[in-house]
Amino acid sequence: MSKGKLAKFADMASYPHVFEYPYSAVDNVPFEKRGKWNESFFKNDHPIVLELGCGRGEYTVGLGRLFPDKNFIGVDIKGARMWSGATESLQADMKNVAFLRTNIEIIDRFFSENEVSEIWLTFSDPQMKKATKRLTSTYFMERYRRFLKPDGIIHLKTDSNFMFTYTRYMIEENSLPVDVMTEDLYHSGMADEILSIKTYYEQQWLDRGLNIKYIKFHLPKEGELHEPDVEIELDEYRSYNRSKRSGLQTSK
Ligand SMILES: C[S@@+](CC[C@H](N)C(=O)[O-])C[C@H]1O[C@@H](n2cnc3c(N)ncnc32)[C@H](O)[C@@H]1O
Repeated sequence: MSKGKLAKFADMASYPHVFEYPYSAVDNVPFEKRGKWNESFFKNDHPIVLELGCGRGEYTVGLGRLFPDKNFIGVDIKGARMWSGATESLQADMKNVAFLRTNIEIIDRFFSENEVSEIWLTFSDPQMKKATKRLTSTYFMERYRRFLKPDGIIHLKTDSNFMFTYTRYMIEENSLPVDVMTEDLYHSGMADEILSIKTYYEQQWLDRGLNIKYIKFHLPKEGELHEPDVEIELDEYRSYNRSKRSGLQTSK
């Protein structure tokens, strides 16, 4: 029988590699591992990679297995989801994996300048109504810049045509260097061991026949960032509730 939420929360509170600092808890209190994740937790000088909005943490754990010489931190506000990856990595005794339960809006309170090498955004909510809530908006780019290394890497994996299109405009508007951009990852020939890791949400969208999109780009530290002023077609399938969604035909 699967565990209930309260039992999962109790587990999370006891896990040595889980740090829980939702907005309310961290207000005005400096986070003591800021700038010291490697020194005081991972005990090495390996590059740090974040998965923001990690859900169950499939990328955090999957990449942790593939790259023992990098450190991975999954970040999400939902503890019951994160419990899956936190439990799996604990049971596998993975020393290069941690989880941070917090609001991504305050992510720069947890990392200091140049502390992070890469960010993964895995099936982030497209937040079609409000750009500042979108994890690829310039609002968030400004925050990521505060702790990413120069020319740090950002990966976006998404089902959402809206999120993909918006991010492409944001990249173009700011002339950000792009390494890879595909609207159909699994038919592009690029889906290697890393890009084929599948998250919970990803599998749901794949089952519904949606194409998975992927962008890998760099975020330079310097230069003013401009928010793109564009109209983007909404993802129609997201306007429906879950029961209606299951019977919905999609074109991609
Ligand atoms: C659509 S789910 C994707 C989860 C996972 N990456 C996957 O692909 O299965 C988006 C996740 O981002 C988290 N999230 C969204 N906005 C957030 C924010 N501002 N702060 C913290 N977590 C956030 C949600 O709690 C949720 O777990």
